[in-house]
Amino acid sequence: MTSFHLECSRCALEASGGLPPTVCIACGKPLLVRYTLRRNRAAGMVDAWSARPCDEGMWRFREILPLLPQEEPVSLGEGATPLVELPAIEGLEDLSVFVKDEGRNPTGSFKDRGLSAAVTRAVLSGVSAFVIPSAGNAGVSLAAYASRAGGTARVYLPADTPEAVVRRTRLAGGEIRMVDGLITDCGARAKEYAARTQAFDVSTLREPYRIEGKKTMMLEIVQALGWRAPDAIVYPTGGGTGLIGSWKALAELEALAIARASTRLYAVQAEGCAPIVRAFRNGAREALRWTEARTKAYGLRVPVALGDFLILEALRESRGGAVAVSDEAAEAAAAELGRQGISAAIEGGAALAAARRLKEAGRLAAGETVVLFNTAHALVY
Ligand SMILES: Cc1ncc(COP(=O)(O)O)c(C=O)c1O
Repeated sequence: MTSFHLECSRCALEASGGLPPTVCIACGKPLLVRYTLRRNRAAGMVDAWSARPCDEGMWRFREILPLLPQEEPVSLGEGATPLVELPAIEGLEDLSVFVKDEGRNPTGSFKDRGLSAAVTRAVLSGVSAFVIPSAGNAGVSLAAYASRAGGTARVYLPADTPEAVVRRTRLAGGEIRMVDGLITDCGARAKEYAARTQAFDVSTLREPYRIEGKKTMMLEIVQALGWRAPDAIVYPTGGGTGLIGSWKALAELEALAIARASTRLYAVQAEGCAPIVRAFRNGAREALRWTEARTKAYGLRVPVALGDFLILEALRESRGGAVAVSDEAAEAAAAELGRQGISAAIEGGAALAAARRLKEAGRLAAGETVVLFNTAHALVY
């Protein structure tokens, strides 16, 4: 039986009470889910994960997800996305390059994994009203999962959010508020709304379960590679839930002795908003706010991240790194993925553009297995 508790990612204080949980009551930093991981149960888990049908999606890993045996998830079939091998691609010919194609999730992005997990636990705590600040994809996803659970979703979006996102959020039943500003300004409005109405704020890392959903991307990758971790991943990083989740998944697989956590994690950001890249290069433990954030990669337009220190720790501990690419390079690479039959939003293109830069810099070696995250379908925007 799964048992889990919550622990602060900074001061390790165990969280108690406070349902649904938010951040650490002592230091305000994100909480992480901790499981009792027993090596002698690992073989049974691998058998169960391999035997369960793909249509159970990400919840087939339920032994290391925050779900007790008698509980049912709020699910739309998220996860179980394909790991598509790219044919020899210019500049990366001597690598095995795979794309984790997250555009195939229910609302077209990887956000569905995190929001399925977050909405599931919140609903089990009696929540029915949600609020989120979003660059776009998370808002669509929350609207879909909240509606699915019979609840409501208030979504704060920057005023320049593409019309397609606004329309999709509305179609999924979301109640939209446009904000003259960036996602950080939307975050402030969401916080104020939550305090006023008791709606549950599922902002990035302000609740602990979105990371758990996101970590299933890495579990699926390791499973698809025959229970071997890839040599490197290249991840388009905004708030960092996917990257932190990937690192957590590897640590849990290693604790269970299922796979070695030998993967180097590389964060890719946009040149017009690269707080993590700058902090990584400066050797800083935390990232300073990026002023004048400007990029067409809306998911990467995050000037400051609550989990900055966790992202930087994961990059350093894994001996990976961080790289910024231009919007032009990311768009061209997204089109290139399109010509390979993979429908990629600009953020997915950024991962391919970054992989080329890493290869040129000698950070990816011949023969290595590298996974690029295509975090959303081209049509999301
Ligand atoms: C398409 C896309 N890629 C990447 C990101 C960054 O996600 P994370 O919070 O995991 O860093 C986002 C976040 O909005 C996104 O929408």
